[in-house]
Amino acid sequence: MRTQVGIVGAGPAGLLLSHLLHLQGVESVVLEARSRDYVEQRVRAGVLEQNTVDLLRQAGVGDRMDREGLVHHGIELRFGGRGHRIAMTELTGGRSITVYGQQEVVKDLIRARLDVGGQLEFEAGAVSLHGLDGDTPTIRYRHGAEDGELVCDVVAGCDGFHGVARGAVPDGVLTVYERQYPFAWLGILAEVAPSTEELIYCSHDRGFALHSMRSPKLTRLYLQVAPDEAIDGWPDERIWAELRTRFATDDGFTLADGPVVDKGITPMRSFVVEPMRHGRLFLAGDAAHIVPPTGAKGMNLAVNDVRVLAEALAAWYRSGSTELLDGYSATCLRRVWRSQHFSWWMTSMLHRFPDDDGFQRRLQLSQLAYTTTSEAAARSLAENYVGLAQV
Ligand code: FAD
Ligand code: DHB
Repeated sequence: MRTQVGIVGAGPAGLLLSHLLHLQGVESVVLEARSRDYVEQRVRAGVLEQNTVDLLRQAGVGDRMDREGLVHHGIELRFGGRGHRIAMTELTGGRSITVYGQQEVVKDLIRARLDVGGQLEFEAGAVSLHGLDGDTPTIRYRHGAEDGELVCDVVAGCDGFHGVARGAVPDGVLTVYERQYPFAWLGILAEVAPSTEELIYCSHDRGFALHSMRSPKLTRLYLQVAPDEAIDGWPDERIWAELRTRFATDDGFTLADGPVVDKGITPMRSFVVEPMRHGRLFLAGDAAHIVPPTGAKGMNLAVNDVRVLAEALAAWYRSGSTELLDGYSATCLRRVWRSQHFSWWMTSMLHRFPDDDGFQRRLQLSQLAYTTTSEAAARSLAENYVGLAQV
């Protein structure tokens, strides 16, 4: 097979890149290791920044998001048994976030690609990348029992944190910046109406909890747990009891429960490789960087990377100029590091660390009190959370 841009991975990054390139008249093939059903059902992110919403709309894939997504103008920080609202829209000159599941974005993008005959190969896992230093890089992949080869002008490594693209870069080229956190998130999706209109980020002496949602009938909840926690140790009743304890308020907040339809544990890490390019290979999204989920930034960063990459590739095909491609890594990394800092800051402020003493806890509570009472501090959180227009 031959194409212009060979894309590894049909997550938000790979699919949106393929769609944006198509809008610019550039041809691509997407290779995805998993089945279509699997990628459409995988429950992950839920918060779209204003920039992401604007881009999906402009790209003509925002109709269902506009009908079914939930537009939010504030979030709650809860600590010491009380809720404190951060009025995001008021503090940011009218910007907001939209709660719309990542797998819904993925479904919309798959549909948009297939509607115009886009080539998506499911159950076709890339095995190795070759010739990244030359003009015709090649992706070797396995599709069922068959081995295949995709010859391209450029390879986009959009295959997530555990993919093969990053590993194809020769030793010594990439610098890795990394931080592990001594906890994980246990996430559930439950068939019950949300108990709140806006997201609640809750800091409790027993650990962090997050109340989110997917629709008026579906609630998404997360609990901070130990990093090595086994999901079997968390029957549904234990999860609900722990959530009720952490979300309890002095004025009697009640958490409605219901059937749990999805359950999983996610480790937490911060990770960046620099540069996000080697020769004709461009890394985008989780393949190049991971943020802890507390700031809701991972998918939004993936979307920003491929926005920059699609523009750069289109300019190169149009004019032969490599200027934007040469700036790709540095342009993306500015936003990546801003989001890394914000995600680390939110994570540090809201979670209990095993080594924390009373002093550290009081620092956290003081930071939370300041963030929710100072307009300057609240605005700083709000503008980062809805996504800075420029970085
Ligand atoms: P992925 O979604 O990981 O896609 C990579 C794709 O590549 C996958 O489909 C994979 O199957 C495929 N692949 C892997 N290896 C190969 C191979 N060898 N060959 C072919 N295909 C391959 N982000 C936010 O912005 N907001 C949030 O609210 C948020 N909440 C989150 C909550 C949780 C619990 C988790 C786990 C993540 C959350 N994130 C959030 C992060 C977000 O989900 C990721 O950042 C996002 O999925 C990155 O997209 P991607 O396309 O780069 O990678
Ligand atoms: C969700 C996930 C997040 O990481 C976050 O910060 C907010 C919401 C969610 O899945 O809804």
